[in-house]
Amino acid sequence: MELINAINERRSIRKYAPCVVKMEEIKELISYAQKAPSWKNSQTPRYYVALSDEAREALRSRLASFNMERTENVGAFIVTTVVHGISGYNRDGEGTHLGNGFECFDNGLAVENLILKAHEMGYGTLIMGLYDEKAIKEMFKIPENENVVVVIALGKADISPDMPERKSIDDILTVL
Ligand SMILES: Cc1cc2nc3c(=O)[nH]c(=O)nc-3n(C[C@H](O)[C@H](O)[C@H](O)COP(=O)(O)O)c2cc1C
Repeated sequence: MELINAINERRSIRKYAPCVVKMEEIKELISYAQKAPSWKNSQTPRYYVALSDEAREALRSRLASFNMERTENVGAFIVTTVVHGISGYNRDGEGTHLGNGFECFDNGLAVENLILKAHEMGYGTLIMGLYDEKAIKEMFKIPENENVVVVIALGKADISPDMPERKSIDDILTVL
C-alpha cells in the first residue's frame, strides 16, 4: 500500500468484529514503530501487549468506561511507555524548554508508524489516552522509570468512519 493512501484512509476505529491477532504480526508492527526517529536515537518507547483472551479482558477493564465499550472484540491491546528522563536531555542532564516533552514526541512518532503499518495489514486501531495508569503498570509489572503514554486497540474494523473535519491550512499555518 502507498504510504500516502494509508495516511489518507486510516481512521480511529470505535467498533470491532472478532479477530485473532498473531504474535508475528505484533512483532512486525513493533519493528515498524522501532524505525521511527528519536532524540539522539535514544529509542525510549517500550511496548507491552495484551494478546490472550484473559489479558485482553484484564486490560480492557483498566480503560475509561467509554473506551471499554469501544474496544469489545479487539484482537490485541498495545500499551506504549517511555523510559523517562532520557529523551530531550544531553549527557550532562541539560534539557530544552520542552523539559520531558520530547519523550512523548518520540512515542508519538513511533505510534504513527505502528498504526499506519497496522492499516496496511488490514487492521483498525484506536489510540487511547484515558486509562488507569497505576492498574496497567501493575498488570505488566512496568518499571518505575517508565511512564505509560497510550494504549492502542488493534483489531478488525466493524465500521468505516469518515474523517473528522480538520482545521483549514490557513488556520494553522504562518509563513513569513
Ligand atoms: C494522544 C491521543 C489520545 C486519544 N485518546 C482517545 C481516547 O481515549 N478515546 C478515543 O475514542 N479516541 C482517542 N483518540 C483518538 C482521536 O479522537 C482521533 O485521532 C481524532 O478524533 C481524529 O480522528 P482520526 O484518528 O479518525 O483521524 C486519541 C488520539 C490521540 C492522538
